[in-house]
This record gives sequence, C-alpha cells and structure tokens, in this order.
Amino acid sequence: MSWRRKSNLDWLRALPGVSPDEPLASRTSFGIGGPAEFFVESGRAEAIERIIAGCVERDIPYLLLGAGTNLLIADAGVEGLVMRVVNREHSIEGMRVLKMMRLARIVADANLRGFEFAIGVPGTVGGAVYQNAGCWGREMNDVLIDVAGFVPGSGEQTWSKKDLHLAYRTSALRDGPLKGALVVEATVKLERGDGEEAKRMMAKLTAERSETQPIKTKNCGSVFKNPPGDSAGRLVQAAGLKGLREGAAVVSTLHGNFIVNEGGATAKDVAALIERVRTEVKRRFNIELETEVELIGRWSSK
Ligand code: EPU
Repeated sequence: MSWRRKSNLDWLRALPGVSPDEPLASRTSFGIGGPAEFFVESGRAEAIERIIAGCVERDIPYLLLGAGTNLLIADAGVEGLVMRVVNREHSIEGMRVLKMMRLARIVADANLRGFEFAIGVPGTVGGAVYQNAGCWGREMNDVLIDVAGFVPGSGEQTWSKKDLHLAYRTSALRDGPLKGALVVEATVKLERGDGEEAKRMMAKLTAERSETQPIKTKNCGSVFKNPPGDSAGRLVQAAGLKGLREGAAVVSTLHGNFIVNEGGATAKDVAALIERVRTEVKRRFNIELETEVELIGRWSSK
C-alpha cells in the first residue's frame, strides 16, 4: 500500500504510452488473468531500464512480461507496473529478445544447427533464459554462452552461465539473486550445418508435439515440473485425473501435465484444479508435485 503515494501515481501516469487498468488475459497464452494496475509496452532496452530504475527508486512493484506463456495471472490482476518487453531485433552473432520458435527458424535459414529444440518452446528468448526452458532433452543451458542484462541499481551487466544458476526450469533470474533483472541479449553457440535438415527435424518434432500436447488450446505449457525420475503427466494419468474440471479449466485428456482453458476459465478455477491434482497425486503416490507455471499478481485478495 505504502508505494501508492500521489507522487508515485503521478510518475506512473506520466510514463509515455502507459495505460491504467489494462487487461492482461489476452497477453498470456492461458487467456486468463485480471488487469495490470499500470501497463506499458516497449521494445527499447534503454527505455525499459529507465523505467525499472524509476520503479526501484520509488518502491513501485513491477513485473516484466514477455510472451506470457508460463504464467497464471490472478483474477484480481497485478499491482504496480507491468512492462511488456517486445523486441524483434536479432542478428546472427548476438540474439536479441524475440520468440524462441521464430528464432529456431531464423537460425535454420542461416544454416546453423543446435537450436532445433526451440521449435517446441513458446515464449521469448528472455523468458526462456529466465526459466532455462527446454524441450526434447535440450535446454537453454546447453546452448547459452552468456547473457547481457540490466540489474536495477547496478546497471548493465554480462552474466556467465555460472552467474545464471541455470537448473531444471529455473535460474537466478527466476529464483535467485538476479530476480527483477531484465534480459537484454542472449548469446548462444550453434554449429554450422545443413539448415534444410534442421527444418526437417523441426517439422518432425512439431508433428510429434501436436500428437502428444494440446498445442492448439489456451494453456500455459507444463503445469508441474517433472519430479526426479518420473513424469508429472504420467502421474496425473495414473491417478485418473485426466479430464478433471473446475469451471472452464480442465486437465487435458491428451497430456496430463496440461490444463486447458476451454473459454472463460478463471485463475481461481485453475488454482483450484492445480490443488486438486497435487492433493490426489500426493495421496496416491506420496509425491509432491511442484508447479512449473508461475502464479503472479494479487492472489491474497481472492
Ligand atoms: N505420459 C503419460 N501420460 C500423459 C503424459 C505423458 O503417460 O498424459 C508419459 C509419456 O508417455 C512419456 C512420459 O510420460 O512416457 C513423459 O512424457 P512426455 O514425453 O510428454 O514429456 P514430459 O516429461 O511430460 C517434458 C517437458 C515439456 C516438453 C516435453 C518434450 C517438463 C515438465 N515438460 O514433458 O516441456 O515439451 O518434455 O520434450 O519438463 C514445458 O516445460 O512447458 C513443456 C511443455
């Protein structure tokens, strides 16, 4: 509450392009969630850095949003400022923020190999670094060299892989000392090779994914992390939970680790469904499923 002083609200209202009470649902792959108290969109790192620094100085909470593919935003929305980072620049030597799937095609066009796995990863490159995204046994950790970014209070920095603490679906940006920092640029190491072969491989992987995952639905990707040595999807299926429903949120009948918004599901529905699944898997197999999806926003005021 304390940050909501007149001077802070005036500062937020004066940001170029800012809008108050901006709906966020359509900016997430789930299609769920309430509004941002203040919302701004920018593709310019310097502008975003300035705004982050301003928020930190004024104690204004802020959230950096990429493609919104791994989030469950509360129905009551997000307090403070939500900044959507949109930047589609890229170069072959150094990659800037853009969508992973598009980048996978761009590097194949450039006859580079080693990034085919990204065709199965929705979201931005920044988001993929943030949670060390992966698919088909490969993850960002396998291809990253370093990442440049902005840390409020410390300015621009370059982080080695060691600084990033990359582990299964997490990093120092998501759960460690770099929380709140902005990914500006990621450098990946790829190999020269046959781009056509890379494209054939990606087509095969995409076909496989569309058979095993509900890719055409509104969802957030995997809801749970896989527990060591097992698969959350397998456990959900073995517990007989496929098709379980809360309102318009339903456990996918195709893949047990997906929850699908059939249209009009609320965040409360999804959260309730997640809890039912966790409880039942714990009861049946004594395994605690941990969420991969990140719950964001004003949950306590539910
Ligand atoms: N399985 C079932 N029932 C199901 C789903 C899966 O029995 O409903 C079985 C499968 O038959 C397979 C095993 O569980 O034997 C593993 O399933 P799958 O190959 O689909 O992989 P996953 O472990 O469920 C992981 C990633 C996905 C990634 C796929 C493909 C996690 C939590 N998920 O899924 O990543 O696309 O591998 O590489 O690590 C994501 O992170 O959002 C995501 C979608």
